[in-house]
Amino acid sequence: MSRDQWTAVDTYIEDTLGGQDAALKEAHELAQREGLPEIQLTPNQGRFLKLLAEVQGSVRILEIGTLGGYSTIWLARALPENGHLVTIELEPRHARVAGANIERAGLSGKVEIRVGRAVEVLEAMANEGGEPFDFIFIDADKASYPAYLDLSLRLSRPGTLIVADNVIRNGGVARADTGDENVNGARGLFERLSGNSRLSSAAVQTVGSKGWDGFTISRVLS
Ligand code: DHB
Ligand code: MG
Repeated sequence: MSRDQWTAVDTYIEDTLGGQDAALKEAHELAQREGLPEIQLTPNQGRFLKLLAEVQGSVRILEIGTLGGYSTIWLARALPENGHLVTIELEPRHARVAGANIERAGLSGKVEIRVGRAVEVLEAMANEGGEPFDFIFIDADKASYPAYLDLSLRLSRPGTLIVADNVIRNGGVARADTGDENVNGARGLFERLSGNSRLSSAAVQTVGSKGWDGFTISRVLS
């Protein structure tokens, strides 16, 4: 199987189940023009995350890693009128692009972008002791995934769903010897999920126009 075939199926899925509307298309285009890395979700992955957030009945969503706000828009669209999404981004330039994209999508009233090191922002949020989140999407630097899981647990309640992107890494996750910090971050996440009695977890491998990757999905039990 080749990337071309996976991409053809992604196109088929978008043509049948729906792709992206103007706001999402423009969000991608602005991110491209501004030279942001082209690593945003595919439209079908965005649709999948939105669906999960809806099934969860999410009112409060946390996103770790905003980039240009493409996934932020998908997730914020799962929220009810009184819903709120906090998204954390390290790069001020990315956050500015995301802010413009979220504004254009009409979601500024629901979305708060916090600029800074995610570990520090998350620690501050956990220490503030605010309302827990219903849905957490981890999608920032892969090396910090174990830390992001620990901090996410501090911001969760029983029933919170925690989804982490890019945990398969072109199959690299099954290899202990790659020396790749991204793979090691994903493996560190799996290690923490493994045998964690507070979590019920599964992983889904995906192929598509972004290649071979996948998500972990964890439900907080206690
Ligand atoms: C990378 C990061 C992502 O969040 C993603 O979805 C794909 C690739 C990366 O850093 O390579
Ligand atoms: Mg990602």
